[in-house]
Order: sequence, then structure tokens, then C-alpha cells
Amino acid sequence: MSPRFFAVALILVAALPVRAGTAGMITYDTLPYGTLDAPLILRTFLPDPGLDDTVMAHHGRGARTSEYSPEIGKDIPGEVVPLQGVPAAIAVNHGPVLSYVFDTTEGRLLYAWQGGFLDMYPYWGEKEMGTRLFDYVPRLVGTLFYKAAGKHPLEIGGRSVSEAGAPRFVGYDLVDRQPTFIVRHGRHTVRTRIRPVPGQHALRLEISAEPAAALAYRTEYSGLGVKTESKGDGTLVLMLSGPSLGAFEGYSRQVTIKEASIAAGELFYRNYACAVCHSTDGSMSHGPTWAGLFGRERILADGSKIAADDAYLLESIKDPNAKIVQGFAPNFMPPYTKLGELEYQSLLLFIKSIRPGR
Ligand code: HEC
Repeated sequence: MSPRFFAVALILVAALPVRAGTAGMITYDTLPYGTLDAPLILRTFLPDPGLDDTVMAHHGRGARTSEYSPEIGKDIPGEVVPLQGVPAAIAVNHGPVLSYVFDTTEGRLLYAWQGGFLDMYPYWGEKEMGTRLFDYVPRLVGTLFYKAAGKHPLEIGGRSVSEAGAPRFVGYDLVDRQPTFIVRHGRHTVRTRIRPVPGQHALRLEISAEPAAALAYRTEYSGLGVKTESKGDGTLVLMLSGPSLGAFEGYSRQVTIKEASIAAGELFYRNYACAVCHSTDGSMSHGPTWAGLFGRERILADGSKIAADDAYLLESIKDPNAKIVQGFAPNFMPPYTKLGELEYQSLLLFIKSIRPGR
């Protein structure tokens, strides 16, 4: 099969979500979300947040592929430029608490982030447009806290599983809606379950190997926390935690408004996924409700108090960790630093317009 036909076939398969969202067609919601108990599992091209060549050893990066012409049925002069995305990986989202990418080619966790999932807009397009845009690679939303580096960190009997040759992905099991990834490394079958750790930049890895052998997990880079929680014959449970490796704000949409308005603010509230975490009717969500927020006294995590004025609201949008509202976790809301002035002003107008009883 020619690479281009293969790519097209892959895209068709990759675009099928395993579990559709509860509210209508999943493809109308370009910021899809799963939950803690019912993760959303998507097979799609995924962004590459700068993974090194050792991590991507089996992806055939850098290999040249000549142009193929479907009309004449053979290769023609020229070269196919590969998509700038990771193919054949699986993205999983548990809501704002945890998103991660498990790669079927390398048989390992590639990266993990918090505070958002994927912005599918450039790939799926939108309902109004009725078509996708131009680009197969969705954008990340949230704060990256883990990124694979170097050889596979899992060691069986003291040696990285990378030394057992190319991994073979078997598939994944769903138990209680939670995926367990199954990969063959040489003569060992390794099962990996990845679980969220709410309130921290962290995740839990539950690994088992058959036939049973001593398992260990290498610390891939300094700053990464690897804490073994339990260890048995052929099993290993550990917590991976790390500082922020970068903040991602999704796909920046073309703004065509000429002046700030409440209506535009309401649109951005949906487009930038604020709606995922902030309600306007007073109900609890991942973040504080916006009902009656403007002008109200806020109690912060350190016990201090501040009035929710323009400056405070703007700072909360651009640098959410600067002041944390009491009862909420830091690192949960992605910083929105790249919006235009009219977008910030519209969001402020919208927030201010939401009265307590709405
Ligand atoms: C993934 C969840 C999430 C998303 C998405 C999100 N926020 Fe937040 N937001 C939070 C959390 C959690 C807090 C409380 C912790 C803190 O103060 O940072 C918060 C706090 C705030 C506050 C301060 C609220 C208060 O009660 O004092 C403002 C204002 C705010 N967010 C605006 C926005 C805007 C505007 C957007 C979209 C452009 C947005 N947020 C998107 C989770 C989110």
C-alpha cells in the first residue's frame, strides 16, 4: 500500500472516537471531555510537544517517502512531507484532572497534561462551517507535566525494555471503562494502567509483566518525580509527578469583532472552553461559578481577601496561579495569555453581566 493511501485510510479509522459524548454528536463539540470514571478515548493524530528521536525510535522519522500519483498509479518525482503529528497514538481524557497520550508504536506513555484536553477545531471544523478546516493535528489545551525522554523507562530484570527490540502493541482492555494497554516487549507481555491523581501534577502507573520478573522504572530526567508505591513479583505501582513543562491554549481562532461586547464574551466563553469549568447559573463545576462574581469579595487559598474587580479578573485569566480561590486546586486552569485585547475585554463584560440569580 502506498504511504499516501495508507495515511488516508489511517485518518478515516483514526477519526472514530471509541466513546461518543453524551451531548449529541461528538464532532460538533470541538473541545470534547471525558470524566474521572468514564474517560474519553480518542484515536487521532496527536501533537508532538518536542519528543526526542530516541523516544520516537520506531516511528521512522526522517525516512523519505516519494510522491505517489493515484492517477498514473506509480511514484512520481518529489517527496511527501509527513504530517507534523504523532500517528497511531491514543489520547485519553479524564476531565481537567488528567489527559495523556499512550503510543502504540513505542508502547509507552508519551506525555501527560492537566487542565484541558485537545482542541479538535482545526481537524473537525465546526457545526456552522459543516466541514473540517485544514489540518489533521489537534492542539493541546492545558499544562504539560510529563514528557517521555530517552529509552523506555521500564526495566525488566535490570534492562530497559527498549533493548528487547521493537515493541508490539496488542491492544487495550476496558475494565470499568478504564483502559489497560497491553504491549509485548520481547518475551514479556506488559500491561499498563494509568490513573489520575486529583489535585496534583501527577499520575499513577500500574504496571504488570508476564512472565513475572523484577520491574523498575528509570527517572527519565531531573525534576521528574518517580515514587514507587508498591512492588511485587512482576508488578509495580508508581506515581509520576513533575513541574509544568509548558502551557497550551488550543487553536487560536480568527477574531473578527470590531468592539468588545457581552455577546462576543459569551461566544469566547464557549470557544475557549471556559464553559467546561465555569458555570453561569451558580452551580459548582471544576472552577468557581461566574454568577455574581464581579465585585464580590474573594477568599484566597492563603486566607487573604480581595475584591473581584477588573484587574483581579484579568489576572485570573492570564495567570490563574497568581491567586488561587480558596477550595480550588492550582494548576487546573490553563493560562490564557495569547488572546487579543478585545477578547479579554469581551470576557470581562460577559463575566460582569452575570448576576447572582441567573
Ligand atoms: C480546566 C478548567 C478551567 C478552564 C478551562 C477555565 N478555568 Fe478559570 N478557573 C478554574 C479554576 C479551578 C479556578 C479557581 C482556581 C484559581 O483561582 O486559579 C478558576 C478561576 C478563574 C477566575 C477567578 C474566579 C473567582 O471566582 O475568583 C476567573 C476570572 C477565570 N477562572 C476565568 C476563566 C476564563 C475567562 C476562562 C476561559 C477563557 C477560564 N477561566 C477557563 C478552572 C478553569
